[in-house]
This record gives sequence, C-alpha cells and structure tokens, in this order.
Amino acid sequence: MTDEQHLWSGRFASAPDAAVFRFQASFAFDRRLFEDDVEGSLAWAEALARAGVLSAADADAIREGLSAILEAGRGDPAFFEGADEDVHAFVERKLIERVGDVGRRLHTGRSRNEQVSLDLRLYLRRRLPLVQRDVAGLVDALAGRAAAAGATLMPAYTHLRRAQPVLAAHFFLAHAAALRRDHARIGAVMDETDALPLGSGAVTGTSYPVDVEELARRLGFSRVAANSLDTSSDRDFVSSMLHASALVMVHLSRLAEDLIIFTGDEFGFFEIADSVATGSSLMPQKKNPDPLELVRGKTGRVVGRAAGWLTTMKGLPSGYNKDLQEDKEAVFEVEDTVVGSLQALAAVTAGLEIRPADDEAAAGGMLLATDVADYLVHQGLPFRRAHEVVGGIVRDLVAADRNFTSLTPAEWRGYHDLFEADVVQRITARGAVEARTTPQSTNPEAVQAALDETRRWAAAHR
Ligand code: ARG
Repeated sequence: MTDEQHLWSGRFASAPDAAVFRFQASFAFDRRLFEDDVEGSLAWAEALARAGVLSAADADAIREGLSAILEAGRGDPAFFEGADEDVHAFVERKLIERVGDVGRRLHTGRSRNEQVSLDLRLYLRRRLPLVQRDVAGLVDALAGRAAAAGATLMPAYTHLRRAQPVLAAHFFLAHAAALRRDHARIGAVMDETDALPLGSGAVTGTSYPVDVEELARRLGFSRVAANSLDTSSDRDFVSSMLHASALVMVHLSRLAEDLIIFTGDEFGFFEIADSVATGSSLMPQKKNPDPLELVRGKTGRVVGRAAGWLTTMKGLPSGYNKDLQEDKEAVFEVEDTVVGSLQALAAVTAGLEIRPADDEAAAGGMLLATDVADYLVHQGLPFRRAHEVVGGIVRDLVAADRNFTSLTPAEWRGYHDLFEADVVQRITARGAVEARTTPQSTNPEAVQAALDETRRWAAAHR
C-alpha cells in the first residue's frame, strides 16, 4: 500500500477502515460512467493546455494515455479491477500507471464534485435518446395494432363501467398519445442536462484561466452552468429524469393493466400471444400475462426511486455533499427498468390478436344512451329534457333486461313523438362512432388521420 492509494491519503495518519471505505466507495456502480469520465478528462486536459497550465507535450502524453485507457476499457469488463473509491480515482490511477508522473497534472484546477456532475450529464445525453427510441418503438407497436384493428368496435369505459362505443384503434392510439408526451418530457430532461459544470471547481470556481465557453463547445454543451456553488450540488436534471421515468412507468402500468383486463376471459377483446404468456405449474388451463404484471409491479420501484431521491435532496445544505452519490444508483436502476419494461410491453403489444367484437357486444348494455339523447337534441328537444326521456327508457330496458337495439319503431315513438322511423338505423354502435365529429374523437376518419400521423411520427423517431 502506498501513500497514494487514495486520492486524499496525504491528509491522514492512518489507512481507511476497510469496511467504511467499502461502504462509501462508488466504483462498483459508477464504472458505468467510465467512457464519460475519460471524455471529460480528455477535454479538460486540452483546456488546461490552452490555458497554458499544461505544456503541449504533457497534454499530448495525457491525451494518449487517456485514449489508450478508453480503448482498453471499452467492452472489457475485466479492465475494471481494483479497490478504487470511484471511477474518477480509477481513471486517474490507470493514467498514472500508463504515463507516469505527468498523469498527476490532470486534476489541476478540477474537483470530483464538478467531474461527477459532468459525467452524469454526458451519460444521460447519450443514453436518454435510447430510452426515447424505445418509447417510439412502443408507439409504433400500438399504431400497428390500431391499424390491425381496422373498424373493430369495443366499449370505452369510465369508472370501469361501459360508457360508449369506441374504435379499438382509438384505444391503442390513446396510449400512444400519452407515450408521445413522455418522449417530449425526456427531451426536456436532455435540455436540462445541457450545461457545462466544469469551471465550478469544488464549489467556488477555479483559479486557472480555463476558457469554459470553449470547453462547453468542445463537449457539446450549449451553455455553461451559471453559479459554481449551485452547480456543485445541482441535481435537478436527475430529479427530472426520475420524474419523467416515473411518468413513463405510470403510463406503461396503465397500459399493462388495460391489457391484463381486456385479454381476460371476462372481456376477451384481445388475446396475448403464446410466446409472451406464462403457464401455471399447477393449473393446466392457465395462460398468464406475467410480463404485463411485472411492468405494473416494477412501476413501484421507479416511483419509489423518484420519491426517495427527492427525499435525499431536501435536507442538503448548499454545496456538494456525499449524499449526492445516491443519484447514480437511482438513475441506473430506473433507466434499466424503464428500458426493459418498454421493450417487454412493445413485444406483448405487437403480438396482440384483436378479436373483432361484434357491434352488439360493443353496444351491449346501455352504451348508446348518449346517442339517443343526441338524437332527440337534433330533433329540437333541449338536452336536459332529452336526458330525462332517455333515463326513463333506460330504466324500463334495465328492468326488462333489454337494450336499445331491440326497440321497435312503435316502442320508440311511445317514449317521445320526436322519435321517427330512422331511429332504428341511427342508434347503433357503428352509428355512434360515426356521429362523432371532432378531430380528437373516435370518428373513423379522425382515427384514420390520427393513425397516419402517429405512424409517421414513430417512423421518424425510431
Ligand atoms: N463518487 C462521488 C459521487 O458520486 C464523486 C464525488 C466525490 N466528491 C467528494 N468530494 N467526495 O458523488
């Protein structure tokens, strides 16, 4: 063991307690930032050279050393050995092993506090587009099912009670609409990461004349973080990433829940492909939607990470605190969970068989009541009056265990003389969706336009 075993050993008379050192070390998980750490150090070495802090020869040696480390570490898990405290200490040790004393000049004017913020920003900038691509993949799968559904009708629900007939395509596109908001929200998180923290030093800035504007350009940032004290503990971009991810999971969970219900025997609107279903070890007839249940279940851990992280942040005094190290496990676990869930759900969705429910089933019960009231309104009756008349019809039909489509023209007229002969053709499930007129409605032409637009969007974002 040398006196340089740890980045800060010079200050201490004794070696660290092994168990406590392990407890506070982050290398086991922050090695995932390796590439970003090296990229940031390459740019920092160049900035130091431009500022005249490093000689051109030293900067070259450091650059070559770092490039070789990057090469050696990419795709080789065995490269990441050693009891280093974190990825920053690891990279610095490897550099010194490779290039000797000159490697000890790299950390001039820089702190791990800003370095870790930089690494995480660079990491999210390259990983969030991959999450977005998986979001678009699920949107594409939903659009595919909407296309396959064609003119299929199903009931739309409110309060999980049958409400009105709807095109099954409209149902799939509803979930796609929520996911497109997620895609935009992840884009906003990327904007938040887009500020260079370097130049902030440990907390008050750096005293070397580093051109941070140039450094920002070099690393692809559009701006430099405004205040060094704020920057050293600013993890708003982490909070936003966790929040955006929690909302993705809430949407996935609700889609999963819909599919669990709608593929069950009691509803039977869709059928899950055998390849993504699971059997029971005991009950031979079972075909279980395990991946959907797991997506719903895993939503808890992502929402929990988001809540846990805000709890970590809320009591921090200003400036860097080690509590902030908790950000990485939250981000990595959430990223893995969201990506896994998106891909599983896309596979289940793409394989759904749509079982064309007949008009009768989609309109079963009292789903056409609103349309009957609308019919009377068209005939000139005030809506509140119409609502009352139809309420009376519903009461009779429920008592007789009948529905609207079984009423004869004479029976209709018995309820109100504004009911004319055409009521029998007009009051059908198909007629109900065709009667909708607004662009966001389940009107078949509106749904076709929405489907076309969604497919174009998905194609452009995959
Ligand atoms: N591993 C640390 C983290 O993730 C890096 C920053 C350490 N800074 C410090 N002053 N101990 O936050």
